Amino acid sequence: MRNPTPADKFTFGLWTVGWQARDPFGDATRAALDPIRTVSELAKRGAYGVTFHDDDLIPFGSSTSDRAAHIARFKKALDENGMKVPMATTNLFSHPVFKDGAFTSNNRDIRRYAIRKVMTNIELAVELGAHTYVCWGGREGAETDIGKDPVVALERMREAFNILGQFVIDKGYKIKFAMEPKPNEPRGDIFLPTIGHALAFINSLDHPELVGLNPEVGHEQMAGLNFVHGIGQALFHKKLFHIDLNGQHGPKYDQDLVFGHGDLKSAFFLVDLLERYNYDGPKHFDYKPMRTESDDGVWASATANMRTYIILQERAKAFRADPRTAAALEKSGVNELLQPTVAKGEGWKEIAGESFDVEAAGKRGYHYEELDQLALEYLIGVY
Ligand code: GCO
Ligand code: MN
Ligand code: MN
Repeated sequence: MRNPTPADKFTFGLWTVGWQARDPFGDATRAALDPIRTVSELAKRGAYGVTFHDDDLIPFGSSTSDRAAHIARFKKALDENGMKVPMATTNLFSHPVFKDGAFTSNNRDIRRYAIRKVMTNIELAVELGAHTYVCWGGREGAETDIGKDPVVALERMREAFNILGQFVIDKGYKIKFAMEPKPNEPRGDIFLPTIGHALAFINSLDHPELVGLNPEVGHEQMAGLNFVHGIGQALFHKKLFHIDLNGQHGPKYDQDLVFGHGDLKSAFFLVDLLERYNYDGPKHFDYKPMRTESDDGVWASATANMRTYIILQERAKAFRADPRTAAALEKSGVNELLQPTVAKGEGWKEIAGESFDVEAAGKRGYHYEELDQLALEYLIGVY
């Protein structure tokens, strides 16, 4: 396989390789990573850029002069390594002030503070050249249904996105928002838990054109959903603004494994879909190197994400190019779905007047077993 290059647009959050592996049961197993080192290590391995939460780069509570110093040395590292910042986001979940949420906190001053925190970091994101601003509402939820009225909470959520939309319009910023759904963790239940919920919510905003999605593989799978179908619907609505690639083994805690290290078959069909629909945004890895790893394991895991994507890309391309695949697709009638159900000028009347041999049509086999096995054999490298 070829090596990753910046043309692949692989990006990593500072918080991913930088995760110190603190979990609910144990302390950190790794030292803090200097963002400057992260930038150079990732550049060396062929990445295109990095992304960050405000607090990943500028420790919470930093003075104005410290903030400026952190930004200056980060910018220098980006320039020296030719690395980009296509996306940034806000930490609205770590500090205790956000324990009951940010945009949907019951406390009005906290809601206003959260919006202010986002606006401050959007200014930095724009300065660094980002075009996407991710919003993951990890604390926007509840553990008890009596704690927050879910209808009112969504009203407050809408208010926040409308204010932020007006902010970027008034400032003339060329940046769009990408909402990241997640069903639970850290809250017992999080509002807007899946791609579908978020898509419906976006339609209720003053400026829906400014807001799309940043779906994460593991988050939909935690909800027991098919990620490939979720991405299909995001593409259908032209809302796939960004993507968080990682791995997950079904509905359990958020594993944030390396891309492909969870449901590999789903990862294969995901890459196939993204490539066929020419998704050209960053391929952003939002994962956590295993808690067992020391420094070299962290960088091995970063490389693993990119290698897996490229391998799946090559496998999917070869699968699609094989005449046996074309024949199997034909046999299964996959391309028949491309044909509109009614021809131009036709409508319900033509359909109503038709006769059809239901028994004969019901006898048809669709040969998906053969097709699925062919895909699987490509995936595991038999062809
Ligand atoms: C998770 C989330 C987060 C967010 C990130 C952006 O694993 O629960 O993916 O990692 O993507 O914090 O705000
Ligand atoms: Mn996650
Ligand atoms: Mn994520």
